[in-house]
Amino acid sequence: MKLLIVNGPNLNMLGIREKHLYGDQDYDALCRVIRETAERLGCEADIFQSNHEGAIVDRIQAAYSDGTDGIVINPAAYTHTSVAILDALKAVQLPAVEVHLTDVDAREDFRRVSYAGMACQARFTGLGFEGYVKAMEHLCNRA
Ligand code: DQA
Repeated sequence: MKLLIVNGPNLNMLGIREKHLYGDQDYDALCRVIRETAERLGCEADIFQSNHEGAIVDRIQAAYSDGTDGIVINPAAYTHTSVAILDALKAVQLPAVEVHLTDVDAREDFRRVSYAGMACQARFTGLGFEGYVKAMEHLCNRA
């Protein structure tokens, strides 16, 4: 089982950005948790991060033909704006799960809209790094 983990803008700034919301662990620490989880579940995890909407669309499209079985996606701010990422997820028709470190529904009103979430079969929010673990378990258990 091969999972693609997609992280959107500013997630590379974990450990620096708004620590009261996102904590003080950095992006490398998140990648370590993802890699350890993949090893435990016996699956492959390809981790991708970009600050650019089009690059995220390109990576999701590539998943159509690179053997990816499922996508875990935290589109970050693009969650609330990007119809292009929603359309890319719909286009490739791979099982996808949405993750947010924070509880987006308990924050500003504009964070309650999730375009990407409309193409996802499950969602884990407000659990910090554990949300990625749960999303990966969800996809692996369904394989
Ligand atoms: C986020 C929540 C988004 O609203 C925000 O723009 C992010 C991170 C989260 O993981 O909690 O950058 O996706």
